[in-house]
Formats: sequence, structure tokens, C-alpha cells
Amino acid sequence: MNPKDLLAGTVASDHPRIASQAGAVREREASGRPATRERALLGAWWSARASATLPASRACVGYPLSCILCGAMRYDETDQAQRYDAARAITREAQQRSLAPLRPLLPTSVRLVVDLGCGTGRFSVALAEEFGAPVIGVDPARTMLAKARENVSHPRVTFTYGESSAIPMPDGAADLVFVSMAYHHFDDHRAAAREMRRVLAPGGIVAIRNSTVDALDQFAFLEYFPAARAHAEATLPRRGPLTASMRAAGFAAVLHQVIPHEMAPTWAVYCDKAAARAYSLLVMISDEDFEAGISAMRRAEPGPEPIIEPIDLFAFRAP
Ligand SMILES: C[S@@+](CC[C@H](N)C(=O)[O-])C[C@H]1O[C@@H](n2cnc3c(N)ncnc32)[C@H](O)[C@@H]1O
Repeated sequence: MNPKDLLAGTVASDHPRIASQAGAVREREASGRPATRERALLGAWWSARASATLPASRACVGYPLSCILCGAMRYDETDQAQRYDAARAITREAQQRSLAPLRPLLPTSVRLVVDLGCGTGRFSVALAEEFGAPVIGVDPARTMLAKARENVSHPRVTFTYGESSAIPMPDGAADLVFVSMAYHHFDDHRAAAREMRRVLAPGGIVAIRNSTVDALDQFAFLEYFPAARAHAEATLPRRGPLTASMRAAGFAAVLHQVIPHEMAPTWAVYCDKAAARAYSLLVMISDEDFEAGISAMRRAEPGPEPIIEPIDLFAFRAP
């Protein structure tokens, strides 16, 4: 299957939700309001609601840096596309740790992989190589997609505009939908599950690689950013509810592993990565909270060991 043929005709206007988001982004770009002011307001707001719980509805409201209800971040409202790769570079070995467990779950010949929320394409080439399959990276952030196209030149990898509630793919086209560090940005998880099921062939796999609230105590940097911790608790998924919502959409849970991910070889490098402010949790806090946290991190000397963070990997099989 040639991903370019598959994409032909799947333009944004085919999908009312995508079209309206694209319109919102264009309006936002045209308005030229500075994102830093919004970040400060939003940071104060998150700090103030540190112990608040999420409302049941995940429908997004408003477009500052993020939805004011669910916290889903709008990457095009930030400069993340410019910062992301430097701070989030990943080795092939680390990619392997997330992809190898999926191999036994997939057919020998994988027809198509959707890298949903592909961002700058960090996993797209590894997916194409690991599974010998065409990969379509889908993302609603035009800035991240532009970076992905700049980063990746691979005969089997293509990128396109789209989002979890309206994946621009025909029914039953994919054997794997891979979602790395994007699930917590989805504004409607039920709609996402429905869409992932629609684009998967029978027996196809959704793999979700994400941080979870259950593992937050092991994210060393969060100790220095209480507002980011509050944001994480409000927006990251919890293992049980994530699995329950995929089961409710008809998927069978077939894999859960916690994968140790080396974030940095030393504390100093870890501080530098945090200072690059390429984690959405650090984008959502005020500049004051951010600067205070970075200074406190740099003063701390927890030891010479590499910094490991746990990343959850879930896989679900479509009926
Ligand atoms: C932290 S980045 C992860 C990128 C990439 N998967 C990786 O692991 O490096 C999160 C990405 O999710 C995207 N995203 C946000 N909301 C989304 C949605 N509703 N559907 C699909 N992707 C979304 C963002 O635009 C961003 O590029």
C-alpha cells in the first residue's frame, strides 16, 4: 500500500472537526497574541486548582495554550516544534524497548502503521523499520508536522494533518495505531477509541506509550515543579481507567509493561533537558514557577546515577 495514494483525497475539509480546528489555528495565528502572557495566566490557574479534579466531559473549551477544561495542549500555540527534538532525542535502543514487545502481537506482514500524534516524527522511521511497513504520521499541529517533514526522509513514511477524533484514514486500513506520549493530549478519549477501532483491520493493535499518574512519583523533575505535578495529575491517564475505556470501546487488553526510559545520563544533563522546556507539563506552568523549579533542580545533587523515568506501554486488540 502506498501511503501517498491512501492520503489522496483525505483533505481537512472532509472532516468537519479537523476543518474547524484548522480554522481555529488560522484565526489564532492571525490574531498574533503573545503566547507567553497566556502561559503565565494558565500557569497561575493550574497552580490555583492544584487539587481540582477533571470534569467528566472531555470536550475542549477555548484555545489559549490548552483547553481550559481538560488541559489538552495546543502545540501550534507554543514553540515546542523548535524545542522538542533537542530535549526529547531518543536512541534506537530506547525505541526498540517500546516497539519489540509489539512484534509478537502483529501479523508477519504489517500493511500500514498509523503513528497517531506523531509530533516531529520521533518514532515514525523506527516504526517503518521495525515492522517493515508504510507509516503515516498524523498530527493536528502544523508546526510539529513541518518539523517531522524536515526531519524524516524515508520511502515508507508520510505525514498528514489529522487528529484522534477524526483520523484521515479509510476503515480497516491499518494493522497498528501507535500513540506515543500523545494520548493525554486527546480531548475526547471515547471518540479516539472509536476512530482507532474504525481505521484498524479486524485484530489490529492500538499501542499506547504514555506516562501515567500511577508512576508520577518516579518522575524526579516533578518534585521541583508542584504546579506541573498538579497539571500531570489532572491530565495524564491512570492505568485502570485507560484500560477500562479501551475495553468499553470493544478492545481486548493484550499487553501492559512499564518500560524504564533513560532520560539523561547525569543529573546535570537532566537539568539541561528540563531547562529546554520541551515537556508539555513545563509549558503549562508560569515562567516564575518554571524558573524557580529549574534553579532548585540545579542546586540539588541527588547522585551520579542515570535518570530513569517509567513509561507505560499498553496494547489493545481490536475485535
Ligand atoms: C509529546 S508529543 C509526542 C510526539 C511523538 N509521538 C513522540 O513520541 O515524540 C504530543 C503530540 O500529540 C499531538 N496531539 C495533540 N492533540 C492530539 C490529538 N487530538 N490527536 C492526535 N495528536 C494530538 C501534538 O500535536 C503533539 O505533536
